[in-house]
Amino acid sequence: MSLLDHADMSKRSHPRPCAWITGARGLIGHRLLLQAPTEAPEWDVIGLTRENLELTDRQAVEAFFRESSPDLIIHCAAASRSPWCEAHPRLAYEINVNVTRHLAELASDLPFLLLSSDLVFDGSHGNYTETDSVNPLSVYGETKAEAEHAVLANPRHTVVRTSLNAGRSPDGNRAFNEGMERAWQSGERLHLFKDEFRSPIPADVTARALWQLIRVGSPGLYHLAGTERLSRLQIGQLLARLSQAANPQIIPTSIRDFDGPPRPPDTSLNCAKIQTLLPFPLPKFSEWVASSPKLLQREQDRQQECLEEPDDRDPG
Ligand SMILES: NC(=O)c1ccc[n+]([C@@H]2O[C@H](COP(=O)([O-])OP(=O)(O)OC[C@H]3O[C@@H](n4cnc5c(N)ncnc54)[C@H](OP(=O)(O)O)[C@@H]3O)[C@@H](O)[C@H]2O)c1
Repeated sequence: MSLLDHADMSKRSHPRPCAWITGARGLIGHRLLLQAPTEAPEWDVIGLTRENLELTDRQAVEAFFRESSPDLIIHCAAASRSPWCEAHPRLAYEINVNVTRHLAELASDLPFLLLSSDLVFDGSHGNYTETDSVNPLSVYGETKAEAEHAVLANPRHTVVRTSLNAGRSPDGNRAFNEGMERAWQSGERLHLFKDEFRSPIPADVTARALWQLIRVGSPGLYHLAGTERLSRLQIGQLLARLSQAANPQIIPTSIRDFDGPPRPPDTSLNCAKIQTLLPFPLPKFSEWVASSPKLLQREQDRQQECLEEPDDRDPG
């Protein structure tokens, strides 16, 4: 399967179900696309990128929706970087809220799955369950909370909140571990919070769990993250072991000394609800890192193969 794989529309007269994955050149969308042949072989999958469909172009989206007539939308496209959203709140709202609402309306009779974030919480206590109230502290978190609200108004629809996802993205610049590695390679010393906690998860596991959730067909709100609550400092120390050649430098710091917008101290997620639907245990991030030198290399190779595969079909 290539990055911009499209279902051949002529097949729609003998249809297999067709799934759209938005944000297919992003970290999670691309993992979903790569895993489709094994995790969801019954689906024809259309990986949508900004290059082949700008999602803020409502007419273009509606035209392509009519043309391809999807049976499922997994919505991964987003303005996903919190600092960018703080700097561009209107655009962030347009992409994260208005685009989501539009797609969810088009898919009102279909399963629709929105990826959301642990940053809808204020981080005051951690181990958040699906019944806890949201209280975002950032523009990114606010847009995600509003998008969730719009999506969950439809009982057929699903929201999955996840935490920091690690792995390899197609452009090498989307996963947080890629950013850390790049910084270390350029000799930067990373200031990492010892008192800000998340539940990191490999993007590969996220994608597998999402396909499973779709297979089970149980809509609603879910938390999907690693089973370990780790500080940014602990996460950095784990990843530093994989970057020894770059002589990684870390300076422990505190969110109390952070001179910027408020940060939620602990947005670790309780994933007991989704775990009951999964045939595999959600991993500890530390165990994943311990097995990662080979794993990350394998992912990189698969990524490369996928990008090199010729795609002469009309992207539509
Ligand atoms: N990765 C994480 O750690 C994490 C954690 C919590 C929640 N999430 C959520 O999970 C989802 C997927 O995350 P991700 O890490 O895969 O994000 P990502 O790597 O940033 O990918 C998002 C993709 O959406 C595309 N996009 C943005 N605006 C678009 C538009 N107007 N039209 C078409 N495409 C557009 C981006 O294209 P460009 O590259 O051209 O901008 C990008 O390829 C997002 O909703 C994110 O908020 C992710």
